[in-house]
Amino acid sequence: MTAPPTILQLTPLNPDFRDDPHALYRRLREAHPVYRDEMAGSTIVTRYKLARETLNDRTMLRGPDKVDPPGPFTQRLVENFERDPETGELRSFSILLMDEPHHSRVRPPIAKALYARAAKCKPLVDAIVDEKLDAVSAKGGFDVLSEFAIPIPIDVIGAILGVDIGRRAEFRDWSEGVIQVLNPFRTAEQSAYLERSGEAIRAYFEAQIAARRAHPQDDLITDVVQLQAEGADLRDAEIVSNLIGLLVGGNLTTSDLIGNGIYALLTHPSERAKLKADPSLINQAVEEVLRYDGPVDITARVTPRDMEIGGCPLKARQSVISLLRAANHDPEAFDDPDRFNITRKPVPHIAFGGGSHICIGAPLARIEAQAAILRLFQRFPDLRLARPDGKPERRTLPFFNGLQRLDVLI
Ligand code: HEM
Repeated sequence: MTAPPTILQLTPLNPDFRDDPHALYRRLREAHPVYRDEMAGSTIVTRYKLARETLNDRTMLRGPDKVDPPGPFTQRLVENFERDPETGELRSFSILLMDEPHHSRVRPPIAKALYARAAKCKPLVDAIVDEKLDAVSAKGGFDVLSEFAIPIPIDVIGAILGVDIGRRAEFRDWSEGVIQVLNPFRTAEQSAYLERSGEAIRAYFEAQIAARRAHPQDDLITDVVQLQAEGADLRDAEIVSNLIGLLVGGNLTTSDLIGNGIYALLTHPSERAKLKADPSLINQAVEEVLRYDGPVDITARVTPRDMEIGGCPLKARQSVISLLRAANHDPEAFDDPDRFNITRKPVPHIAFGGGSHICIGAPLARIEAQAAILRLFQRFPDLRLARPDGKPERRTLPFFNGLQRLDVLI
């Protein structure tokens, strides 16, 4: 390969990428371990070792507002920052794009509340999964996404947060709107969708917080409001932004993981047979799905000082994007990396990112995906693709990797 592809070509908007992302990723790892992309205004890292080191380096910055001079991608993210009512600073209230001194103040109470709820949610998750299985069991077949992989994470995070699950269709719709914040290629229409959804979801959580202060419940919104009352240094706007982050983050990516996992097992009978013979392999199976076909393509950092990545000199305040799925198929880290093998020697994948920003929802996503995938194959041992010769339709949201639809027969 001479010139590397632009970042736009590394999205499902490019049919070649959509058909075979790993052909492109392979060529990039071989010819361009670290390269500059002007369209993103970022340096792109494609190999496992460098990507992992970059993500785990806690001196790296996160906020797109730190990039100087600003790039086209990072500017689009900064457009949605809010003004701190106390300091007047324009900043992210969500931990996803937050730097110090705020990140280590805001993330721990949110993490404490979420981890405590996740640690005891297995019975809830099993019940939700079984309810979806019961609903499809009388049919001859169904769409795995709309009837199984999509509703499960919404119902789970909805129950954990304590929101009205009767409004799940709205939550999904708002999530699809809000996630556009991470789509630098969004159209005017998608920007309007983002704005509309952001306003609706914000108003919803503001009302929920007020309601929990008046009438505490057994749910995560109450936990966070109580942590604040007991002294956790959280602004109300930060609580709202991060509850939105949990609802949205807890939803699209986990659906994609469940869908991708079911598809991988349906198309790899030897791996499915291993899982059938030994259901305790489900943990490893889900880790292998995260590595082999993970839901998130990229995550970014900003250089805090002049430094080198893979021998490439970078000035301070440059954006650096790690290609998670390219890294997770690096033959220097994983034997036979394009093979789906649920019993491979464990090597940590970076599907959840790393370092201080590593995904806060990883424990919950794992519990959900393990329960959903295992129970589906146990309930329907003859589960098969409705169209074994065709490829399933994929979602087209840039930097997210999942299926739009997956028809199966039971
Ligand atoms: C399979 C499912 C999921 C995948 C693949 C995934 C992936 C990621 C990735 C790649 C990051 C960026 C990490 C970094 O920059 O190092 C992230 C951050 C985050 N995720 Fe997830 N995620 C998943 C599920 C969830 C769930 C279930 C939740 C919430 C319940 C969630 C909430 C978040 C939040 C709040 C952050 C920001 C953390 C921070 O910056 O401190 N995610 N996730």
